[in-house]
Amino acid sequence: MASETEVDGFAPLRIARVVRETADAVSLVLDVPEHCARRFRYQAGQFLTLRVTVGGRDLRRCYSMSSAPVEDELRITVKRDPGGVVSNWINDTVVEGDEVHVGPPEGRFVLRGDLSGATEVVAFAGGSGITPIMSLARAAVDDPDRRVRVFYANRSRESVIFARPLDRLVAEHGERVLVHKHFDEDDGVVTPAAIEAFIEPAGDAHYYVCGPGPFMEAVEESLLAAGVKESRLHLERFTVAVPEPNAMDESSVTEDVVIELDRKKVVASYRRGDTLLQTARSAGLRAPASCETGSCGTCMARIVEGSARMLNNDALDDDEVDEGWVLTCQSLPTSRRVRMTYE
Ligand SMILES: Cc1cc2nc3c(=O)[nH]c(=O)nc-3n(C[C@H](O)[C@H](O)[C@H](O)COP(=O)(O)OP(=O)(O)OC[C@H]3O[C@@H](n4cnc5c(N)ncnc54)[C@H](O)[C@@H]3O)c2cc1C
Ligand code: FES
Repeated sequence: MASETEVDGFAPLRIARVVRETADAVSLVLDVPEHCARRFRYQAGQFLTLRVTVGGRDLRRCYSMSSAPVEDELRITVKRDPGGVVSNWINDTVVEGDEVHVGPPEGRFVLRGDLSGATEVVAFAGGSGITPIMSLARAAVDDPDRRVRVFYANRSRESVIFARPLDRLVAEHGERVLVHKHFDEDDGVVTPAAIEAFIEPAGDAHYYVCGPGPFMEAVEESLLAAGVKESRLHLERFTVAVPEPNAMDESSVTEDVVIELDRKKVVASYRRGDTLLQTARSAGLRAPASCETGSCGTCMARIVEGSARMLNNDALDDDEVDEGWVLTCQSLPTSRRVRMTYE
């Protein structure tokens, strides 16, 4: 049953506890009432969408769980983004007892592979990217057969979030857990050599990467160069990838987009440079979306006529792409007419 005061799919949750992690990061423990418990069941690595009002503006932002389902609390961790509205508002003003509106858990950055435990988890986190990695690591070590390796990069020691919980994880699980902390202030930015050294010996592993864009690019490049298969590589981006300068050119041929959603069919005229999601919204449709970075898959729709190109795809696998699925938040149409359907 949904809460009586739920609006637009967002449930009001009380903040049970505020934990200051570092000068720039704070964790919020959310109180999930009994009647919402099923709705807020989640997998390690997923995220919640918060809807908050700051300075009279209604804003939505995604935050990954830093807790794991094996723990008895639901927790997110928010790091200040310099100049960012919501992250600073949360760090500066939110206190225990406040209420935030929260959408249900989403995302595909979850544990893969042999769930009986044979597969190793090798994770790379940069800065606030440790949030979903912490959740994945906690969930993975719960399986006594699984090994976990975490490479955690930070500019300095002061910016390390979860220093103690990570140490505890190592202390409690001995040889099954390895955490390597990298500090730019000591060793400069992470190099391909450091990444390659960390993954040796590469066993039957799945690789998880979350952090700032340049860090993610460096890790992805090095892992692929070291022979890691794309199907074993899982990426969670907190920010949108910057489109290449000529990315808009192909969409200049598009005139209209036919959108089928909730048994409605709308023909939307196309505005150059807009994604398919923006086109659906401009046509007045309440198209599903969440992260808007190509990570969660919430916005997926199938192209049934014409073509589109994804600027970023961290959610769909090759089979889904072959079947015509696209992430509408990351897709530019590339044919005169495009027909897409949300199923
Ligand atoms: C799936 C997912 C999971 C995430 N999980 C986490 C998490 O666990 N922890 C976490 O801390 N974050 C997480 N994020 C990031 C989070 O959602 C927010 O993007 C982040 O907190 C910044 O929001 P903000 O409102 O503070 O910044 P915004 O106000 O959105 O600003 C973002 C940046 O853009 C700059 N900017 C804003 N407006 C302009 C402008 N007009 N011109 C130039 N620059 C501008 C700001 O200076 C800032 O650097 C996640 C994101 C996604 C998509
Ligand atoms: S909204 Fe998350 S992938 Fe598009």
